[in-house]
Amino acid sequence: MGEITNFSELYNSRNASRVLTDDYRKQELKASRPLFDSPLSGGKNSYSFNESFFSTLPEGIWNSINGLQEYIEGLLMERKGEAIGIEFGGPGCKLFQGFTKDLFKKTAGVTLVDKFAGERLSNHTVIEGEILKKKAYSDILKWSNGQQIDLIIERMDGALGLLPNIPTFVYRAFQRWYDLLSEGGVMFVQIPREVNEGLTQLHSYIESECPETIKIKFGGSALRLNKLAGAPMNLPNLL
Ligand SMILES: C[S@@+](CC[C@H](N)C(=O)[O-])C[C@H]1O[C@@H](n2cnc3c(N)ncnc32)[C@H](O)[C@@H]1O
Repeated sequence: MGEITNFSELYNSRNASRVLTDDYRKQELKASRPLFDSPLSGGKNSYSFNESFFSTLPEGIWNSINGLQEYIEGLLMERKGEAIGIEFGGPGCKLFQGFTKDLFKKTAGVTLVDKFAGERLSNHTVIEGEILKKKAYSDILKWSNGQQIDLIIERMDGALGLLPNIPTFVYRAFQRWYDLLSEGGVMFVQIPREVNEGLTQLHSYIESECPETIKIKFGGSALRLNKLAGAPMNLPNLL
């Protein structure tokens, strides 16, 4: 982790993030239904996950309204019934309803507020937590029972602006997600502006150190990362 030297900047940035996050939480608590619980697939302007991640898919399969689903199911079908998946920064209820039944043994969403009793799959859990806080990760380990996760998705969109403007903190979340990912697993992540530089460095690191075991593809402001057999256990501290 890079050295942090300007402590007042660090303090202000964390404080600003705290205030913005608490406001966002209040808005969610006031609402009578989830402000966002987007579907996996859908037509144009459906705000589906497919729309955000189709350009990170391998060429040939991306140009379809179900491209993301087809890609993930193709990759994980061998683990049908055993795979586990998680969304960071969202309840994940509609997202995981979009996959073929019984693909996942269980799924979860990590989000600020879970007060809605809407329709959700019986094997889906909503974890109230913050992606930069340790507590969320101990709750996730309890939920996963220590099993590595096969699908990780983060599409926080405008809420990425709530994160502190401190690249080392934000990149740390990305490292944690990588640690949680299984061999053969895949993650789709919307990139916060704070870690653009770090991810460019990460790309160079992968190209030179492990081009055969980690595959990464950028598309728009998002990326897909595949962790293959023999991939490094952890990502280096680049920021
Ligand atoms: C714009 S919504 C997107 C929700 C969902 N990903 C989707 O695409 O429908 C932003 C989400 O990020 C969550 N969020 C905001 N800050 C967060 C944080 N620090 N940790 C975890 N979730 C957070 C909010 O609770 C909300 O669910």
